[in-house]
Amino acid sequence: MNERITKTQFDYFGLEGKTTIVTGSGNGIGRATAIMLAKLGSNITVCDIENESANNVKKEIVNNGGRAIGIRCDVCQLEDIRNTIDKTIEEFGDIDILINNAAGCGGGKTIDDMTYEEWNRLIQLNLTSAYMFTMEVLPYMKAKMHGKIVMVSSGAGIVGDFSDPHYAASKAGMIGLGKELANELTAYRINVNILGTGLTDTRMSRSNLWNKKTQQVPWYRIGLPEDQAAAIAYMVSESADYLTGQVICPNGGAWM
Ligand SMILES: NC(=O)c1ccc[n+]([C@@H]2O[C@H](COP(=O)([O-])OP(=O)(O)OC[C@H]3O[C@@H](n4cnc5c(N)ncnc54)[C@H](O)[C@@H]3O)[C@@H](O)[C@H]2O)c1
Repeated sequence: MNERITKTQFDYFGLEGKTTIVTGSGNGIGRATAIMLAKLGSNITVCDIENESANNVKKEIVNNGGRAIGIRCDVCQLEDIRNTIDKTIEEFGDIDILINNAAGCGGGKTIDDMTYEEWNRLIQLNLTSAYMFTMEVLPYMKAKMHGKIVMVSSGAGIVGDFSDPHYAASKAGMIGLGKELANELTAYRINVNILGTGLTDTRMSRSNLWNKKTQQVPWYRIGLPEDQAAAIAYMVSESADYLTGQVICPNGGAWM
């Protein structure tokens, strides 16, 4: 059996020794993604606005034999983004993968009771932060003509939602940004894909119209953070080199 066939068959993900930054990975989908990618061999920068959560996830990874650092990072602050990148380079020497996952929810606002300030704050937190983090990481990926980026979007950005127009707009914006970048960055062999996240049992979804939304999922159960992490693991794997500009939606059939 030649070396290439062996690699294709037994190293499907090809993440051993790669370095991944997962934003907002102190809880929920980001946490599950950090843990799953670490199990697949990637070095992980766990970063979150909650310092304690980030460090707990880091400890969990390290205690299970993985390699990780934990950093407090508010993705709305450029200096925090730069600090996270600097610490990642210091520890692991490189950045191969970026998962733009950190976000906030809209608090159940309708267009009538939402303020301009609330709109601006959520667009900054959910969309502008992903643009800024990507901009700061790109020089490292461009220099080696290789990289994988995932935008963690939402069904709200694809089919809309019952409330929170600012949330839906921010998540639709991530899809547009991801697709445009995917086009532009083919020249650098950088893949950009989008997770069209379906309803998933986390702190964020529990706080927002949980009962109404669970009734819309045909798959007889609600998504787990690991369902989303598995799709992300595929998107950043070496097996997905030919996948770019795509939206993958683990959603139990909630929309098709
Ligand atoms: N749970 C769902 O049903 C669902 C559905 C669609 C999309 N999503 C998306 O999935 C992603 C993860 O959400 P989740 O459900 O795991 O929620 P979560 O609340 O469990 O996790 C979000 C994480 O982001 C962190 N965070 C918040 N503001 C931050 C900031 N300024 N800087 C850095 N970190 C910050 C939080 O501390 C938290 O750890 C989000 O982008 C969300 O929009 C979730």
